[in-house]
Amino acid sequence: MTTPTIAAAAPRRPSSKHRLELAVHLGALIPVAVFFVDQWLGRASPDLIRDLTLRTGFAALIFLLLSLSVTPVVSLSGLGALNPLRRWLGIYSFVYALIHLSIFVALDYGLDPAVLADALLQKPYALAGLGAFTILLPLAATSTDAFQRRLKRNWKRLHRAVYLAAALVIVHFVWLVKPGVLDPWWYAGVLAVLLLLRVRPIRRWIASWHRRSA
Ligand code: HEM
Repeated sequence: MTTPTIAAAAPRRPSSKHRLELAVHLGALIPVAVFFVDQWLGRASPDLIRDLTLRTGFAALIFLLLSLSVTPVVSLSGLGALNPLRRWLGIYSFVYALIHLSIFVALDYGLDPAVLADALLQKPYALAGLGAFTILLPLAATSTDAFQRRLKRNWKRLHRAVYLAAALVIVHFVWLVKPGVLDPWWYAGVLAVLLLLRVRPIRRWIASWHRRSA
């Protein structure tokens, strides 16, 4: 009679999915690290609240655009392994947007509802930012697998609103800079390209180009 052998527990190696996700988690800490390095080197702005507002707003925008880039990059490169990163990049965009908004509400306006309401009405850029945040909130809240299963096709419909949120962030950025400052327009250009790559005939053309080159 043979005795059952106990398979030696092989050490589990991280899969490429986990390695990619770890890279995103570490990447999400870059803005924090840059902030501390700038403080240490004395390069940070003396106006700490404005400095933090600009840094967190910028990080939220970059993560949002990176999240929107995943689908076009996957369809152009065929690297399906990048797909799970879309969710994390979107969540980090939301986290930075939440910190950005909290700084505005708590540090800049001292949590005073009357002053805040006044600021929102008098500063159209803040209203556009609030519009973007209001869209990002339910998207972040329903980003789990469980919600994706529960909402079925509606989940995709709901999550398409991320393009509207991104457009509002660009409007927010355009309205807050001085006339003639071109920075927001670079990001508007990136968003326009990402939107174009989502247009059905262009997606079909990319798919057929892939089939031909395969
Ligand atoms: C109620 C919502 C929001 C408010 C009140 C708000 C407020 C502000 C303020 C006060 C500034 C700095 C203006 C200045 O001093 O020059 C700013 C900049 C910015 N915000 Fe927001 N924001 C909101 C939402 C958002 C969201 C959701 C995003 C992105 C997802 C975002 C992205 C940005 C960007 C990219 C900048 C410019 C950063 C730079 O110049 O590098 N904001 N926002």
